[in-house]
Amino acid sequence: MENKLFTPLQLGDYELKNRLVMAPLTRMRATAGSLAPHDLNVEYYRQRSSAGLIVTEASQISPLGMGYPLTPGIYSDEQVAGWKKVTDAVHAEDGKTFIQLWHVGRVSHTSLHPEAGLPVAPSAVAAPGMTLTASFEQVPFETPRAITVDEIKQTIHDYRKAAENAKAAGFDGVELHAANGYLLHEFLHETSNLRTDEYGGSIENKARIVFEVLDQLVDVFGAGKVGIRLSPFAYPYGEYDPKSYEVYQYLVEKLNSYKLAYLHLIRYRQGEIENVTAKEEALWKSYDGTIIAADGFTPETAAEYVEAGKADAIAFGRHFIANPDLPKRIELAAELNDYDRNTFYGGAEKGYTDYPFLEKTKA
Ligand SMILES: Cc1cc2nc3c(=O)[nH]c(=O)nc-3n(C[C@H](O)[C@H](O)[C@H](O)COP(=O)(O)O)c2cc1C
Repeated sequence: MENKLFTPLQLGDYELKNRLVMAPLTRMRATAGSLAPHDLNVEYYRQRSSAGLIVTEASQISPLGMGYPLTPGIYSDEQVAGWKKVTDAVHAEDGKTFIQLWHVGRVSHTSLHPEAGLPVAPSAVAAPGMTLTASFEQVPFETPRAITVDEIKQTIHDYRKAAENAKAAGFDGVELHAANGYLLHEFLHETSNLRTDEYGGSIENKARIVFEVLDQLVDVFGAGKVGIRLSPFAYPYGEYDPKSYEVYQYLVEKLNSYKLAYLHLIRYRQGEIENVTAKEEALWKSYDGTIIAADGFTPETAAEYVEAGKADAIAFGRHFIANPDLPKRIELAAELNDYDRNTFYGGAEKGYTDYPFLEKTKA
């Protein structure tokens, strides 16, 4: 039987050559100081251009939007020039790439942006647990500053500027990161959003900023070149709020009217929250457009998922780290290289651009 993963997919304005997406993957290897992509980053993405779509590592839209050492930005001319080399390399290999736009909210530390000061969040509620300072020291999260309405407007403007920069850098589109406990996600949960103004309280208010940002991205790129990533049942760096389900019902319903390139959904990971399977299925079914699914897929489960019509494409994270030629390996049912967690974040070539291609493995 034909493997549907290798059939083309109309995704917004583009036809993808296959249904294998490289998931956004933070690698913390940008240039120190400028936080611009450099030649090694270009090589890393070039190696992975056989993906139907590459979603880049999350890239901060402003200095305050940064949450870890050496993550790249998309707010300065130097960063745009660095990213342009990445998109040129991917396009030269017939690939497509969207940049993931990121503001980390409270998942940050002042040392990463001393001039901008304390991290901001919907409310002054610290994320539980520990984080990394600019010098890779483990410290507890600081209590963030509650973002003002004026600052929210400025942040929305920063997202717009980042989208304009992404366009100038030659990206095929942008993915809005509204998942995994960062700024936009923090607005959706009452455990982190205690606001009583137009950005908190009701379902519409909690979701408001997501749509205000999306409106800007769509205005810059057009809906067919904009995607959004959500993790409805995973709220890392925070306490999950079961009421957020209603916010997601509203979000997904309203997203239908946006006709975006895609909705990128991170699946529920067993063990985090009980009894969500039916809710998750209902949420996914309520979306009319193209769905990219992520989290824990194997080549086999990915093919089954797409064949069953549960998603249109599958994003691979860790397997794409270790297998630059993942599509070819899946197509040939070849063995996959193992990933090395120790080199996920920070460092240079090792565990980044030195994973072998199939030919080299066989030789
Ligand atoms: C090293 C690493 C970095 C990640 N960075 C990001 C990121 O920048 N943005 C994001 O949305 N998800 C990020 N994720 C989550 C992945 O995109 C993906 O959802 C996750 O790895 C599960 O997919 P997998 O089982 O195929 O690895 C990261 C995951 C890993 C392992």
